[in-house]
Amino acid sequence: MKGLILCAGRGTRLHPFSYSQPKTLLPVANQPVLLHCIRKLLEVNVKDIGIMIHPSQNQIPEYLGDGSQYGATIRYIRQESLLGIAHAVKIAQPFLQNEPFLLLLGDNLVMDSLSDLIHVFSQSQPDGIVMLSEVEKPQDYGIAEVYEGRLLSVAEKPVQPKSNLAVIGVYLFTNRIFEAITSLQPSSRGEYEITDAIQAMIERGCVIAHSTAHGKYSDVGRIDRWLEANQWMLIQELGNDFSIGKGSVIKDCKIIGPVLIGEGCHLENCRVGPYVSIQDGVQLSNCTHIENSILLENCRLQDIDWKLQNSVFGRSSTVKGDAGKRTGVLIVSDKSSIHFPARGGDGF
Ligand code: G1P
Repeated sequence: MKGLILCAGRGTRLHPFSYSQPKTLLPVANQPVLLHCIRKLLEVNVKDIGIMIHPSQNQIPEYLGDGSQYGATIRYIRQESLLGIAHAVKIAQPFLQNEPFLLLLGDNLVMDSLSDLIHVFSQSQPDGIVMLSEVEKPQDYGIAEVYEGRLLSVAEKPVQPKSNLAVIGVYLFTNRIFEAITSLQPSSRGEYEITDAIQAMIERGCVIAHSTAHGKYSDVGRIDRWLEANQWMLIQELGNDFSIGKGSVIKDCKIIGPVLIGEGCHLENCRVGPYVSIQDGVQLSNCTHIENSILLENCRLQDIDWKLQNSVFGRSSTVKGDAGKRTGVLIVSDKSSIHFPARGGDGF
């Protein structure tokens, strides 16, 4: 069994953070989403992994290398035109050859193990398996119609959904997917949809099984969902605890777990948490309260006399001063600097 992870998407819904790095490298609990996907594959012993990237995304191979440090063998496949998931699968055919494969979307996080899919596959040898999860807004997803335990049809972002069961970004396919892809036409958004490929498989008499996710699922493709995924990953990894990385100094602070603090950070006179992840080299001083937020590498926050919630601070960004309110949300892009009117003090 091989693994294929798709990363080539533009990540426009995660701007400004996905300008400077691919969205699949953005951290959830201080680890790139993509690394969480790789771990999921390794957990079920799938080590031969293809990663589909856009030619502009060299940061991904630079970060992961050949995969040997994770116990995987990673091959990079380039997708120049972003024509959809089914198109990406077709491009990966020379890598996948005729082996069955697990397909993951590199910006989707699932808490469930993939062992259910492997189990269903070895028991009944279907032509494909999709993982389903109940969602609140079915119009945003590929939606499955299931009757008496059988998957009858799937439709991409239907206006009138037949259920609230979404096909989340976890699939298992045999090589029968390729003949179905060949028959596809682009959808109204100009993409070769994986949902259309699955529907074409069903119409050709292929057996498509499904498994239902019980744990949380998030498509980390939007800032609110990124924060949400960060929150539940912190709960899973730390419970109510906090973790402090090597060389970090914490002075006169109140830390309310779960909070993850990277290496070489300096926190002084701050109240932090719950649900805050802080990457390496971050400096915080005199911050009234930061809650449910993501702080990327080397950002600096100083003299924030108000409570910050649901915020993201870009790499090497700086924020300072009193905004004249009690609570607020800040989304600060990489390297930018926000300086609220000073109330005295010694400058930054
Ligand atoms: C894609 C798939 C959709 C699936 C979703 C899961 O949608 O096309 O079927 O339900 O991922 O996140 P997209 O993220 O391209 O809108």
